[in-house]
Amino acid sequence: MTIKELQNKITELKNAVNAVILAHSYQSREIVEIADYTGDSFQLSVWARDAGADNIILCGVRFMAETAKILNPEKRVYLPNPLAGCPMAEQFSPDEIRQLKKREPDRAVVAYINTTAELKKLCDVCVTSSSAVRIIERMEAEKILFIPDANLGDYVKKRVSNKDIMLIRGGCPVHAAATLEDLREAKALRPDALALVHPECDPAVVEAADYVGSTSGIAEFAKNSPNREFIIGTEISVREHLQYDCPEKSFYILSKKISCPNMRLTTLADVLGALNAVKDGGGGFETKMDKHDILAARKCIDEMLRLNG
Ligand code: 13P
Ligand code: SF4
Repeated sequence: MTIKELQNKITELKNAVNAVILAHSYQSREIVEIADYTGDSFQLSVWARDAGADNIILCGVRFMAETAKILNPEKRVYLPNPLAGCPMAEQFSPDEIRQLKKREPDRAVVAYINTTAELKKLCDVCVTSSSAVRIIERMEAEKILFIPDANLGDYVKKRVSNKDIMLIRGGCPVHAAATLEDLREAKALRPDALALVHPECDPAVVEAADYVGSTSGIAEFAKNSPNREFIIGTEISVREHLQYDCPEKSFYILSKKISCPNMRLTTLADVLGALNAVKDGGGGFETKMDKHDILAARKCIDEMLRLNG
C-alpha cells in the first residue's frame, strides 16, 4: 500500500468511527498530513478539552495522551504507539516530589506538562512551554518549586521577577544536547539566519537565540517574520514542516542531536492499528486511568487553563 492509500484508509476509518486525530508538531510529515489538528502541548490540551468526537487518537507521547484522557474522562483516548514515552516526564518519582514538598512546605509546586499523571496529582499548577511565564506571573503564591525541567525553569526565572523560583535538576535530554558551540557554528554557516529555539535548550543557547518559544511559537514566528532564513533549535521535524509550509524561506537545523526517538516511534501503520482497535472495541492502545486519579491529576491542568485566561 502506498503512503497516500494508507492515509486515505486512515481518514475513511477515522470518520466512520467518530474519531479526531491530534498530533504534536514533532510528528512526521505523513502523520501531520492526516491529523485534524497539529500543535504544541498547550494547544493539544485545549483541543483535547474541546474535542467533539467520541474517540481521540493522540499522536505524540504518553503524557499527552494522559492529559487528553484527564480532560475527557468520558471519551476514549488512544496512543497509537504505546512505547512512545517522554524520558523527562518520568525523571522524578512521586516519592521524590513528596520529600521535596516536605522540605519546602511553603512553596507551590508547578509542574511542566511533561510529567506523568502520578506527578500531576502532587502539583498545584501545570504549565507548558508557551504558557509558563504568563501562568507563573499570575499565580498568587510567591514561592515556587518548579519541576522537572531546569532549563525551562531557568528561562522562566529570568523573566518572572516577582517570584522566588526553586529549580531541581531535570530536563529534556534531546534539547539539552545542543550546545552554544552548535549555535555558533550554525550562525557562522548562515549569518543572515535568525536562531529560533525552544526553552528546553541549554540556557546558554537560549540566551544567544533571536527568539525563544514553544514549537508553535517558533513556527508562528518563522511564518510571520520578514526574514528569509532560520536556524531551528527544536526537534528536527519542525524544520521539515516549516520548509514544507514556507517554500520561499530556508530553514536549517541547529543540531541533528535534537531528534527525539520517542516522537519518531509513531507510524501511519500504528495510527491505522489504533483506529482498528476503536472499530473492534479492543483496548490495546487505549489510555486507561482510574476515575480518582483523573480527578486528582486534573486540578493542576484546570488551574493552568484558568490562569491562562
Ligand atoms: P511544546 O509542545 O510545549 O513546544 O513542548 C515541546 C516538547 O518537548 C514536548 O514534548
Ligand atoms: Fe520528551 Fe524531550 Fe522528546 Fe519532548 S523532545 S517528548 S521533552 S524527550
